[in-house]
Amino acid sequence: MTTQQRQQAQEAWDAIAAGYDEFVSPTHAHVSKAALDAADLRPGMRFLDVAAGAGALSLPAARLGAEVVATDISPDMVERLAANVKEEGLSNVEARVMDGHALELENDSFDVSGSQYGVMFFPDLPQALGEIVRVTEPGGRVFIVVYGNPKEVEFLGFFLRAMRAVIPDFEGLPLDPTPLPFQVSDPQKLRQRLQEAGLEGVRVETVAEELEFHSGRQLWDWLMNSNPIPGTLVSDTTEEQRAAAREVLDEMLRERSGGSGLAVLTSPVHIGIGTK
Ligand SMILES: C[S@@+](CC[C@H](N)C(=O)[O-])C[C@H]1O[C@@H](n2cnc3c(N)ncnc32)[C@H](O)[C@@H]1O
Repeated sequence: MTTQQRQQAQEAWDAIAAGYDEFVSPTHAHVSKAALDAADLRPGMRFLDVAAGAGALSLPAARLGAEVVATDISPDMVERLAANVKEEGLSNVEARVMDGHALELENDSFDVSGSQYGVMFFPDLPQALGEIVRVTEPGGRVFIVVYGNPKEVEFLGFFLRAMRAVIPDFEGLPLDPTPLPFQVSDPQKLRQRLQEAGLEGVRVETVAEELEFHSGRQLWDWLMNSNPIPGTLVSDTTEEQRAAAREVLDEMLRERSGGSGLAVLTSPVHIGIGTK
């Protein structure tokens, strides 16, 4: 990444770090557990988290008893993560600001390395995977967690339908060329990328992410803070249009909840994992 790209990424993620910590991180517990189980992380192991955010993966890894190094390009995310670590009284997490394309870490220094909803946003995924593999010790495991087919990602479908109900020609997220967050949403491609990075015994496990929402406002807050893209997609809209979209979401969620008040939106999530 160029210095300018790095700065832009930092600023974009810093801007949503507080919202990410509040609205998004807590919704990743189920997927984090599935990933750590797939990697068979055990107490005492050295674990690297790349693009760690506010700690959705690092915190459960630390609770398991691993020695965690949590890295992220956004200083505000790292600050949030460190505050969460302190609040829980954990002493086995080192949080560092670092670009995942150029890890300032020694070769062969981790038993397990992973990135959850992280490297899928990177402009140079092969470079980032090469770095993760470099710092993992021979025989160690590397995993990445990514969204599957965007057409099956329900929060995205709900967002686009609500926006189009208000602005009929709202383009949304063009899927051609494939946007960065979905660059390895195809399990074949994910497997291929991990193999090209030098991993062996690569496998892909698919789990269903289930997100629960009770209001359009709550889903909107989740979307706008989940990554910088939704905010840019609605940057040309008026506050009235956004409020109207939230009302449409309210109605859609009510319908989905079947009267229970709590709607569950599912998405396919792939955990790609291999051995160095
Ligand atoms: C969707 S969040 C995922 C956070 C966390 N892994 C989780 O599961 O909640 C993506 C994270 O990638 C980080 N990120 C984006 N580009 C990065 C880069 N080049 N190097 C390191 N981190 C990066 C962002 O700052 C953000 O915290």
